[in-house]
Amino acid sequence: MLTVDSITELRQQVSAWRQQGQKIALVPTMGNLHDGHLRLVEQAKQHADRIVVSIFVNPLQFGQGEDFDSYPRTLAADSAKLEQVAADLLFAPPVEEVYPRGHGVATQIEVPEVSEGLCAESRPALFTGVATVVAKLFNMVQPDCALFGEKDYQQLQVIRRMVADLCFAVEIIAVPTMREADGLAMSSRNGYLSVAEREIAPQLYQALQLVAQGLAQGRRDYAALEQEGGEFLAAAGFVPEYFSIRQTDSLKVAKQDMAEVVILAAARLGKTRLIDNLACSLVE
Ligand code: PAJ
Repeated sequence: MLTVDSITELRQQVSAWRQQGQKIALVPTMGNLHDGHLRLVEQAKQHADRIVVSIFVNPLQFGQGEDFDSYPRTLAADSAKLEQVAADLLFAPPVEEVYPRGHGVATQIEVPEVSEGLCAESRPALFTGVATVVAKLFNMVQPDCALFGEKDYQQLQVIRRMVADLCFAVEIIAVPTMREADGLAMSSRNGYLSVAEREIAPQLYQALQLVAQGLAQGRRDYAALEQEGGEFLAAAGFVPEYFSIRQTDSLKVAKQDMAEVVILAAARLGKTRLIDNLACSLVE
């Protein structure tokens, strides 16, 4: 695996591959890689000949008081994991390479509607930061396809909407959430949990499953179901941030007669903020 930290070297290598007629996939990450990230790389192999993985902790998507400084940076271990899954190129640029004039004065991309509400309520800078850095990575790498996890469901919809609105010639491939044996969605932030919190954490997924069960039994009283989900989390020791049943693509509030919905939740457990979601088909 090649490791590069400059856009020039990245482009040289990618254009050499492209001249040989090879298809390029991009897997954007912030590093501290776990099996969920590695599954994206594995999946990428089914869609492309060469896999580029980026590791960049993007300052633009962190708000004040969030964990940008303390976000785990584990490049050596990440690189070893990527070698094991046979990624072709690791692009790990310093902040100055991505934001040469400083991220505070960078041109930014705002994606309407899907960027509003849910995670944006508590993290207003998040999706403009994500859309901007992903657009930049798309322009740097010019991949044929890019893979994103369903774990970050709202992020996935923001990227899809940006790609459609700005006519990026990049196919977006969604990859299902990879979970620990007890159901907890894998996340770089799970490492922040204490031993006691780690035992409670799987109940976030259980709350989603509980509500999904209600839907499967024919309940359509969404507001009551959302409240029950939130109460389940609070009783388990979480501080719920949102618990919401939404339309799958637009993320608008779900209607009674929908064939598909997605249940999304975010909650704090001590200092750690966890998110998860579960898509449900409502047709018998
Ligand atoms: P990061 O949190 O490192 O996640 C990188 C990619 O891995 C995202 O597409 C995310 O949805 C996916 N992922 C994380 N946990 C997963 C899991 N348990 N199962 C499946 N996929 C999972 O998301 C970001 O970085 C950043 O916002 C980024 C898109 C790189 C822009 O900075």
